[in-house]
Amino acid sequence: MVKPRICLPRPLTCFVLAITLAFSLSVRAEDRSPDVAIAAAQGPVAQNGMVVAQEARAAHIGVDILQQGGNAVDAAVAVGFALAVSYPRAGNIGGGGFMVIHLADGTDTAIDYRETAPAAINAKSFLDAQGNADPQKSRFSALGIGVPGTVAGLALAEKEYGSGRFTLADLVAPAIAMARDGITLDDDITNEQTNILARLAHWPASAKIFLKPDGSVLAAGDRLMQTDLADTLQSVARDGPDAFYQGPIAWKIAAAVQAAGGVMTVDDLKDYHAIERTPVRGSYRGYDVVSMPPPSSGGVELLEMLNILEGYDLAHDDETQTLFLMIEAMKRAYADRALFLGDPETVKVPVTKLVSKSYAADLRAGIDPEHATPARAIRAGGDSDPEGHNTTHFSIVDRFGNAVSNTYTLNFSYGVGLVADGTGILLNNELDDFAAKPEAPNAYGLIGFEANEPGPGKRPVSSMTPTIVLKDGKPFLVTGSPGGSRITTAVLQVIVNVIDRGMSIADAVAAPRVHNQWQPDQVFAEPAAPADVIAALQARGDKVVQQRPFTSAESILITPEGFIGAADPRSHGALAVGY
Ligand code: GLY
Repeated sequence: MVKPRICLPRPLTCFVLAITLAFSLSVRAEDRSPDVAIAAAQGPVAQNGMVVAQEARAAHIGVDILQQGGNAVDAAVAVGFALAVSYPRAGNIGGGGFMVIHLADGTDTAIDYRETAPAAINAKSFLDAQGNADPQKSRFSALGIGVPGTVAGLALAEKEYGSGRFTLADLVAPAIAMARDGITLDDDITNEQTNILARLAHWPASAKIFLKPDGSVLAAGDRLMQTDLADTLQSVARDGPDAFYQGPIAWKIAAAVQAAGGVMTVDDLKDYHAIERTPVRGSYRGYDVVSMPPPSSGGVELLEMLNILEGYDLAHDDETQTLFLMIEAMKRAYADRALFLGDPETVKVPVTKLVSKSYAADLRAGIDPEHATPARAIRAGGDSDPEGHNTTHFSIVDRFGNAVSNTYTLNFSYGVGLVADGTGILLNNELDDFAAKPEAPNAYGLIGFEANEPGPGKRPVSSMTPTIVLKDGKPFLVTGSPGGSRITTAVLQVIVNVIDRGMSIADAVAAPRVHNQWQPDQVFAEPAAPADVIAALQARGDKVVQQRPFTSAESILITPEGFIGAADPRSHGALAVGY
């Protein structure tokens, strides 16, 4: 592999400092350049291509593909397969996700490779005998496993939008090598394994890969060998996605799910297909914002929030006012998510209305700029139990003018924890993202109604928000994040921090974030949010709870000086690498 010239690992020790300093370091309004792109002086800068991912080996693999003449889609496919090996808690071929692509010719498109519910899933699948939502079924049992979409999605992206210089096999090859040769673990991965030890230990097929023979987690410095996964990836490399969805791999997946009490069949796998969709698109202060349409809620909510905020001047130093208004916008967008969002193949989502400027103006009229709106005044609710480090995002740009924003997931860290024996494939628990019952919260405290009820072949609503912001039709900002329900608000804050608050991309990503999702009626603030701002929000009526950070917005700003990568300091292993 050719060594990239620019590389910025972010050690854990930098994290607290970066977060703590972010508010004070942010560029003050009066100091800002009129061109926000010029404000971005921090972070690695590269002229030819940039990859920002949550795990360094995968980021290097992506930039290596770019250096070999690949485009951003080639690199994204290689990174997607690589993370399935090097970042198994969220990188995957046993889950699903979304890829938003901007092509140099001006085309924008989106690949939906969200998991689908098996044909035997119905509206009652995740209820107990009393008819109440049963989180045990949707989160911790094989019933919650959706038909994986990642292999189909990455293969579709490569076939349609790859440069043609590489075969799928070329792009899977680095992942195969890592799986077969093993990778040396760092404390980031092993700490996470400690957190979810019970889920991995529950399944012998998983324990034999991810745990030591005595049942303890692998330690930093140990090697993680994934030879079954290498064989699976080798089959995909040789025979394409059919090797995954038909034949011995599919048989093993279906057998493992059924043996664990789930209902997925080989026909469910055979019937899976990734879908190319038209992205949702809006404008914000003269920039175009391109993001993921349903079944993600992310793009619709993001545009709804930006449209609301566009009616206010946020280019000032009043942190409280900016955060307060963002929180008010969040409440309204998440209430609409709950009511309207669902799989567009089965419900009519009123996207045009939700992302319209006139609807935003109506919502804005209901905002009191000095007093928090209680959730009950918007709609009825649930509670919250956020999961930790799950899902993963990477952003890629190339020298040809293409950009890729990709977020994919197993839902929880390591998904349901079950490896389909003999395949090395960790399986998701994505079906918890359905509304098991109207108003029953999912693991992120998100509630939903009939639009997102479980059903055969359906895709559960997601929060993943891979986003590309364009300026004069060209990529300006590529961003996205993991973090369950907090994904969309993290993306919102990165965009507002850059465009309105004039921060460098590094500061925009590092700045402490707040989050509100309508229900529960609480504002979650990261520990580094300034005490005076929190007190001021509380004085206006918001109930603020401080919680550990768990989003990680790997981002790239495109400036006249080059591509500036921002690896989120919240993720110890994240890397921005360019050439
Ligand atoms: N599983 C998290 C999401 O898709 O929103």
